[in-house]
Amino acid sequence: MCTSSEIRKPCRVLKVLSNFTDMKNFDDILHSGNYDKNSILRMLNAEGGDFQKLISKASDVREKYIGKKVWFRGLVEFPNICNKDCFYCGIRRSISVNRYKLTDEEILSAARFAYESHYGSIVLQAGEIQTPAFTERITGLVRSIKKLSDNKLGITLSLGEQSGETYKEWFDAGAHRYLLPIETSNPALYKKLHPDDGKHSFTTRLDCLRSLKQTGYQTGTGVMIGLPFQTTEDLADDILFFLKEDIHMVGMGPYIEHRHTPLYNYRQEIPTLRERFLLALKMIAILRLTMKDINIAAATSLQAIDPMGREKGVMAGANIIMPNITPGKFRNDYSLYENKPCVDEEPEECLGCLDAKLSITGHEIMYGEWGNSKRFR
Ligand code: 5AD
Ligand code: FES
Repeated sequence: MCTSSEIRKPCRVLKVLSNFTDMKNFDDILHSGNYDKNSILRMLNAEGGDFQKLISKASDVREKYIGKKVWFRGLVEFPNICNKDCFYCGIRRSISVNRYKLTDEEILSAARFAYESHYGSIVLQAGEIQTPAFTERITGLVRSIKKLSDNKLGITLSLGEQSGETYKEWFDAGAHRYLLPIETSNPALYKKLHPDDGKHSFTTRLDCLRSLKQTGYQTGTGVMIGLPFQTTEDLADDILFFLKEDIHMVGMGPYIEHRHTPLYNYRQEIPTLRERFLLALKMIAILRLTMKDINIAAATSLQAIDPMGREKGVMAGANIIMPNITPGKFRNDYSLYENKPCVDEEPEECLGCLDAKLSITGHEIMYGEWGNSKRFR
């Protein structure tokens, strides 16, 4: 019986399970258009020529369903104060980092920058805070951003678990998308990544995700790839989870260890950074094959490993990039993981650099468009 939980070491049980699929030619699996768990496992294990075929097939599917287009969402990270203590996160409550607050004026000026740069939409992301004052502040900010952009700037929120009433209040104020990463679809793994203190519950997170959809948001989620204790089977299940929940958008990237977090103790037991990076590209490609018309974001953590990380994510099937438009002086403090890219650049510099890199890969940036998920009706 296999006890290995590492992605690097293929599990023998999985091997037996996937025997039937193993007999199939990789090309047949790729072109079947019907991807069950065994096919997904085969694709996750693809290397060399098979890896290239997978990326190229996903790129074709993306071109057919979405076009060679990329939409920008300007990301404002504020504040880095968080009430939670996730074992992987560099802004977790018990870490000592410089906690900053952006003033409303600083946030609105970042929004103005996004609008004037024709970004189409912005993402407001913060640590998880559940207080009436915070709810009210966000409601006010959403209204002000709508006003300053003549209702044109799309607004995505990524503010964690909140009550159904809060989600509704922000939706009514004008926010229309919400990102709530599930981090892993395996409840047992979720438990290992979070403290058992009543504040970190997989079920609550899932309920929140469903409540967001019900409220009417374009709902996004995501997972981290290459986590300690995570198996290849977990990743295949993550893809099936997105499908089952009929998610509108997904952002997923490699897990990157942070030395001041508890999970750092397991750094020897995870795949190398390069392996995590390639695995993340495979996850993006497989998701594009499985859910052809959704929005897939190339996560910033891809860029922390490879200078062309996000662009490679786009070539593997992603169609959304979230350039950081937080004022440069604060970026170093929103360090969810180490080597976070662009921490010392100002928003204008980021834009120029992304623009250039994407045109090299032959993709068009759709300025001034919201870029709604086609999955969302
Ligand atoms: N590595 C990669 N991604 C991380 N996140 C948090 N910590 C890490 C890390 N160490 C991601 C999680 C979280 C989002 C804000 O950033 O998905 O939900
Ligand atoms: Fe803030 Fe996990 S540490 S949500």
